[in-house]
Amino acid sequence: MESKRVRITSAIMALMLVMLTLLGCTGNAAQSTDATSSSETTTASTTTTTTTTTTTTTTTTTKKLTTTKKKTTTTVMQEKITSKKYTTTQVYNPDRGAYLESIKGNKKLIAFTFDDGPAPAYTNKLLDNLDRFNARVTFFVVGDRVGKYAETLKRAHNMGNEIGSHAYDHSDLTKLSNAELMKQIEKTNKEVEKVIGVAPGLLRPPYGSYNDKVKAAAGVPVITWCVDTLDWKYKDKKKVCDNIIKNARDGAIVLMHDLYPSTVDGAIMAMDKLQHEGYAFVTVSELAYLKGKTLQPGKVYNSIK
Ligand code: NI
Repeated sequence: MESKRVRITSAIMALMLVMLTLLGCTGNAAQSTDATSSSETTTASTTTTTTTTTTTTTTTTTKKLTTTKKKTTTTVMQEKITSKKYTTTQVYNPDRGAYLESIKGNKKLIAFTFDDGPAPAYTNKLLDNLDRFNARVTFFVVGDRVGKYAETLKRAHNMGNEIGSHAYDHSDLTKLSNAELMKQIEKTNKEVEKVIGVAPGLLRPPYGSYNDKVKAAAGVPVITWCVDTLDWKYKDKKKVCDNIIKNARDGAIVLMHDLYPSTVDGAIMAMDKLQHEGYAFVTVSELAYLKGKTLQPGKVYNSIK
């Protein structure tokens, strides 16, 4: 009985000692934090300090959370930018297979490209004339025109022409934030896919303006040009035609805009002349296929030889 009581007493004493030690520790912490605290105010200081400590901890946690969130956003952006894959569904229209085989090895292959459309009146006139030259071309369309002129785009695609992206509202992509840049690419892809069932397999940045960020965001090959017809400047079919003829060469990519009647007329005149010189008119991806080249996402091509 006696020893049991001693054991209980010593246990209580030990517990008190631990409590005192703990209180002492907190008190010390309070003093070290607040040097002006006297021993009488230790308890009060302790409470304050504990509160302060809690607040500080909370702030740190919030800060940490914010940092983590920021990091995550950046990572997602990088993943988005680099994880896009080049779709090969548009490499060439299977209906063109036999014709393409027949022109394999032709040393006069040329890709006519038309930006800024669709523009029904002129785009359709061009489409009306392609069959007589066995020609197919590439259209780099502006996203915000796609829904409006869906029928024209569908027709161009169904004929076996290639549809590339020219961004959503013709912004200079190098001047945008990451988020804005992705929006331009993704919105255009969505618009085009809604109409023809497949997203653009190529990107031509407006103004031919690109940097590393644009190349990474593209997710598909970036196509510029080596022949600039300056059709928008002259609006003269003869000049358009002459500029094409003068600069035509095997593997060339020619820049035009199907926004002007003079461009369409000039392009048709040039096809007529070049066909007699032995040229074949192919899309950008057909050109790559015929040259045995696999276009790489994020790489820039101004011609394909
Ligand atoms: Ni343009």
